[in-house]
Amino acid sequence: MLPSHDVIVLGGGAAGLMCALTAGQRGLRVLLVEHANKVGKKILMSGGGRCNFTNTGATPANYLSANPHFCKSALARYTPADFIELVERHGIAYHEKELGQLFCDVSSKLIVKMLVDECSAAQVRIDTQCQVHAVQQVEGGFRVDTSQGHFAAPSLVVATGGLSIPSMGATGFGYELAKQFGHTVLPLRAGLVPLTLSGKHQERLQDLSGVALPVEARHGKQAFRNFMLITHRGVSGPAILQISSYWQPGEELKLDLLPGQDAHAWLLEQQAQRPAAELKTVLGDALPRRFAQRLCEVWLPNRPLRQYNEPQLREVSALLQAWPLTASGTEGYRTAEVTLGGVDTDGLSSSTMMSRIVPGLFFIGEVVDVTGWLGGYNFQWAWASGHAAGMAV
Ligand code: FDA
Repeated sequence: MLPSHDVIVLGGGAAGLMCALTAGQRGLRVLLVEHANKVGKKILMSGGGRCNFTNTGATPANYLSANPHFCKSALARYTPADFIELVERHGIAYHEKELGQLFCDVSSKLIVKMLVDECSAAQVRIDTQCQVHAVQQVEGGFRVDTSQGHFAAPSLVVATGGLSIPSMGATGFGYELAKQFGHTVLPLRAGLVPLTLSGKHQERLQDLSGVALPVEARHGKQAFRNFMLITHRGVSGPAILQISSYWQPGEELKLDLLPGQDAHAWLLEQQAQRPAAELKTVLGDALPRRFAQRLCEVWLPNRPLRQYNEPQLREVSALLQAWPLTASGTEGYRTAEVTLGGVDTDGLSSSTMMSRIVPGLFFIGEVVDVTGWLGGYNFQWAWASGHAAGMAV
């Protein structure tokens, strides 16, 4: 079978579009196959409709992977500044929200339009609503059988993403394809996801649903300082989403409820200033009042501050700075932003994303075992890995 294209990219998300436009700009004949009715659906829904398209502070330390070194090469060769340059060239207005997170001023639609316009300019053919039935290695490359015909190319790029938000077109296709070609797929689990509580843990907090407070969520050496939100089912908010990627079932998280403060020194000061005030009143000035009250009903003894001796105040402050949270699980792929695990990077070249097992086969984006923190890091990985493969196909 004669090759119909130089490259076939499977999946028209962030990574696939970036790879296709990069290869197209090099003069290659690129076919991008997308099974949904349009490309870039996750980009459209990202960042509350404004797409947090990168993070100016992105470094390899912001990514989880069995091999933390794997992402270094691609991230170094396509940086946030490179993507910002593209965004500015298309006249898309953006702003920094916090911690280097860049968002569109108007709409994520502009990012998808930019990528599609770049693909058009580079003569990339995009086939949407195209179902892939089978992929085979043939002499000189790969044959892809789809609902819109048979295609062949010497290079095949798998950019079909992870399992999160199945309603948006997410499938396990890329993982299956990786296994078909002899790659190892590391265990998959939902990341950047709300945590659920059950039993007494849920009963103690359920009626506080809607209460939000700044915390530092900790797991081992990892800590994230941001907001936690109590929900009907458990806990969410950016601090929880971040730490969820590090949490494993059965493990306990610790939350500092007075982040950045020395709780013991603060309590001693309060004791000196208002000895007759009850603990729940004092805590109610530093924490949401209902939450402070619940702490003093369940976890802490409540009495006037003058009635606490030094060791007792120390115990109170220890609990405030390492409040234990026992989650029963996560809300799963239905609400997760990302999928942890994926195609083992041991089987891929870190500079090109090409398979070490099957030459000409590439894996990019979320399907690979590289997962970023919340805050634009995942798109930066999609752009960087897509660019690396686009330059190498
Ligand atoms: P992506 O999922 O984008 O694309 C895969 C594509 O392949 C999809 O178009 C899919 O339909 C297609 N596909 C799947 N199976 C196929 C098959 N068998 N045949 C053909 N096509 C197939 N990140 C960030 O940095 N900033 C943010 O603001 C957000 N916000 C955000 C919000 C929400 C609600 C979610 C769920 C996720 C985010 N993310 C994010 C994460 C980010 O969206 C994600 O990491 C990237 O989209 C991953 O890019 P990929 O191209 O790898 O997969």
